[in-house]
Amino acid sequence: MITKTTIDRIMEAIDIVEVIGEFVQLKKRGANYVGLSPFSNERTPSFTVSPAKGIFKDFSSGKGGSAVTFLMELEKFTYPEALKWLANKYGIEVEETVESHENKEEENHRESLMIVSAYAAKFFHESLLNTEEGQNIGLSYFKERGFNNETIKKFELGYSPDQWEAFSAQAVKEGYQEEFLVESGLSVKRDNGTLYDRYRGRVMFPIHGFTGRVIAFGGRTLKTDKNVPKYVNSPESEIYHKSNVLYGLYFAKKAIRDEDNCYLVEGYADVLSVHQAGIENVVASSGTSLTVEQIRLISRFTKNITILYDGDAAGIKASLRGLDMILEEGLNVKVVLFPDGHDPDSYVRSVGTNAFKNYIDQNRKDFILYKTDILLKEAGTDPIKRAEVIREVVESIAKIPDSIKASVFIKDCSHLLQIDERALLSELNKMRLAKSKKDAQQGAKQAELAEQLPVEEISPEKPAKEDHTQEKEIIRLLLLYGSKMIDWDGIANTYIGPFMVAELGDVEFEHDSSKKIVELYSKEVENGVLPDEQFFIHYPDKEVVDLAVTLIATKYTLSENWYEMHKILVPDEQVNMKATILGAIFHLKKHKVGKILDGLRTELQKAEGDENTEILLTQYMQMKKVEKSISDYLGSVIIK
Ligand code: CTP
Ligand code: MN
Repeated sequence: MITKTTIDRIMEAIDIVEVIGEFVQLKKRGANYVGLSPFSNERTPSFTVSPAKGIFKDFSSGKGGSAVTFLMELEKFTYPEALKWLANKYGIEVEETVESHENKEEENHRESLMIVSAYAAKFFHESLLNTEEGQNIGLSYFKERGFNNETIKKFELGYSPDQWEAFSAQAVKEGYQEEFLVESGLSVKRDNGTLYDRYRGRVMFPIHGFTGRVIAFGGRTLKTDKNVPKYVNSPESEIYHKSNVLYGLYFAKKAIRDEDNCYLVEGYADVLSVHQAGIENVVASSGTSLTVEQIRLISRFTKNITILYDGDAAGIKASLRGLDMILEEGLNVKVVLFPDGHDPDSYVRSVGTNAFKNYIDQNRKDFILYKTDILLKEAGTDPIKRAEVIREVVESIAKIPDSIKASVFIKDCSHLLQIDERALLSELNKMRLAKSKKDAQQGAKQAELAEQLPVEEISPEKPAKEDHTQEKEIIRLLLLYGSKMIDWDGIANTYIGPFMVAELGDVEFEHDSSKKIVELYSKEVENGVLPDEQFFIHYPDKEVVDLAVTLIATKYTLSENWYEMHKILVPDEQVNMKATILGAIFHLKKHKVGKILDGLRTELQKAEGDENTEILLTQYMQMKKVEKSISDYLGSVIIK
């Protein structure tokens, strides 16, 4: 377990805007920051961060919480993983109460895989730099390719010795478990149960996940033998889903945001060379065709992608269709082609940084225009082929969600295709119509399915699901004003929170997380601590955090009824704290009494005048009196 001192230190260091800013492009708006929700695919920002309170609230997905819960939601971190990530970010040493060897066994699966991967990266990196074989073979190869020490260190490049068990044997000796060595693909199990190294004699490119931890490897052979695969990559695992990863993204994030553009290349070597040349906003799809997940990763930081291709025409044509996917995600795509079979890596090394940058600036072409160009050249003068080109181009344009942007492309393409703009527009509208019909059909199908689902029956005796408004209102006030001094007459030197908790001692909370918060609150008060909203925002129980954040971040509106009855306006609730606090307390009490009365009434009906009737009636009358006195009290407090 991570110690309380460490947790406190981490909490003190957290700047939530800085943390979330690593994942979401945030813009300042008043006291808060807003951005596009990383949890849904929205186009207008509804994701809000409050630096003052240290919380975020995502109005499109409903998620909310602290920097810690953010990491847990987005990165699927466990609580300790999130804390460790933050500790690492802020250079805080993590103290744990259990010996780390035992910990290794206790850590959950994902964490174990990450630990093994981090160890392997270190092993390969050190064998590259500190062993004779590594220096002679691996390091000299990297140097020959022009990678400098800084790049080698930053990307943790490595070398896997050309021996059967160099890595596996050492890892086992140091206590790393076979299970994880095999699952991560670093070791392979022989029939006799022993392990051998997968990446023997290869230079190693660790693949860093979104948070900078090593999650996989690519190992490049140094042999020119055609029968040896050039790259051997990690298999899919619980920490490595190839389609969700972009090589270099961790090191490119900041530059992508700053430059508002992301360069997309094909290989590890391209990322390294371009990055080393000072163009840091570069990532690679690592040889696979781009996936929607990868595009969404990029679109968290920028809406502009520039694809840097090598000049191989066959490959380009094949990928043209795949790029429509980027348009569909609402991103702008530009394309740069390099001359004479150069790839970005070879080109930047041959012409240098400045010429490389100039080349990109001068040869950057919008994807749709570029596609039109290529297809037209190919079609030549064949009218049927030209008609097909028009269809394909308009198909791409139809994918663009922004219709103004689409109409600009229609205009440009009408020049290129030498065809009337209106003809293109009508083609575009036809495609759009067909698409919306298809969507509607799918929608109808879903509606049909939904109708077949059994509808939950609400029996007449069972009231509709309770919303626990009053209980949540108490929690809201507790969080917001609990550590304020009571300023109304008669009660001096008391804080609102402990006062409320004491007043509510006889009330049983029914709403789970409200109940948890009240119980936590009184427990802390008993220990002489006055918990503030931060205490709950950072509490390790997600339910508690969720409720706390929802109540703090959204203006919690009481039922209409409550306004009407008591003439309280929420914006003014601080003007008359006595009315606000006592009003809420007694309103809840009244609600509870009301429920007891309901129960008694049902029982009275059931009793039908038998021997219980009298007792029930007495109880009923008593409760009625309580109800009345509460109402009277409420009236007097509110009217004042
Ligand atoms: N790739 C792969 N397996 C292969 C070949 C390629 O996984 N057998 C992936 C790698 O991610 C590689 C990318 O495809 O980085 C691009 O391939 P290539 O251009 O051949 O590799 P480079 O990284 O450019 O390597 P080099 O310049 O050293 O040839
Ligand atoms: Mn290459």
